[in-house]
Amino acid sequence: MTYQGLLHRYGQYLGLPAHTKTITLLEGNTPLIPMPRLSRGFGCELFIKFEGLNPTGSFKDRGMTAAIGEAVGRGVQTVICASTGNTAASAAAYAARAGLRSIVLIPEGKVAAGKLAGAIAYGAEVIQIQGSFDDALTLVVEITQKTPIALVNSINPYRIEGQKTSSFEICDVLGNAPDWLCLPVGNAGNITSYWAGFKQYKKGLPQILGVQAAGAAPLVLGHPVEKPETIATAIRIGKPARGEQALEAAQESNGRIIAVSDEEILSAQRILASEGVWVEPASAAGLAGLIAESAKGSMNVKGKKVVVVCTGHGMKDPSIVTESFKSPKIIPANYDALLNVIGGA
Ligand code: F0G
Repeated sequence: MTYQGLLHRYGQYLGLPAHTKTITLLEGNTPLIPMPRLSRGFGCELFIKFEGLNPTGSFKDRGMTAAIGEAVGRGVQTVICASTGNTAASAAAYAARAGLRSIVLIPEGKVAAGKLAGAIAYGAEVIQIQGSFDDALTLVVEITQKTPIALVNSINPYRIEGQKTSSFEICDVLGNAPDWLCLPVGNAGNITSYWAGFKQYKKGLPQILGVQAAGAAPLVLGHPVEKPETIATAIRIGKPARGEQALEAAQESNGRIIAVSDEEILSAQRILASEGVWVEPASAAGLAGLIAESAKGSMNVKGKKVVVVCTGHGMKDPSIVTESFKSPKIIPANYDALLNVIGGA
């Protein structure tokens, strides 16, 4: 039978109310891509779980099919979220699919072009906040407590349920859980989901390496960050809603949460692209963390199976790439000029 989306495939494992409707864009079922060159470098078996290949270009679609489906089932008409961009685009798409009104709050000037364009294209009412993601989240929590508008941030438990499906897929493809799972951490919903999913699926447990950006690393510093700053705008978050659960996941799995610099993130982004996998900056944080920990000798992955989760597609944030390159050369439209500029084979 053709693939029918996550609720169809894994619904029986998800704690969703009976009233939940199936609102799907056939999300999930993303590839676990073997990375032979990187594997040789680390002496491990390395795979990328490429979540950028979900319908709206990020892992958020896994949680959104569940959260929007649940909201529709209980008669909700309007949904709202705070977002660094990907949640906004995903909420907007699934709301559009379900015929709901969607409102998204984003930090002014800090959302990558592909995400903002997505949210607008799918018909969300986009509101910029003169403040951070954390300020936006505080506002949407308050408005959903006082009105019938439904919250679809990952504070919503059904988002976590939906996002567990990625750990199920990884186990189904590998046969067992990997030895290590490396992923970026922002508001900390995803790390919470993976850990819950692996525990539930009973195919073994990975050690988890959660990776924050150095300028937005509250879980590494042990206190909130008032003014988070990083080039990886997706994880520019100073007060993660599920911070406690993220720390628990790291600790229980015998893993850890670390911080990497923006330079390390951009370098990891380039390495992935050099193997044909283009991800947005935040999505490269997992690999940046793996590189940093292995270089320090504090993570031995020799002979191990390692999955690096790449949460969003490179096309979400094109300017980060185009701005760091010189514009392509311009030549007259003739053969000699072309040969001259490429200088032979
Ligand atoms: N990677 C990407 C590409 C993201 O967009 C996010 C979060 C994360 C990683 C971190 O996941 O928050 O579950 O720890 N983006 C949210 C958003 C905050 O609004 O799109 P997390």
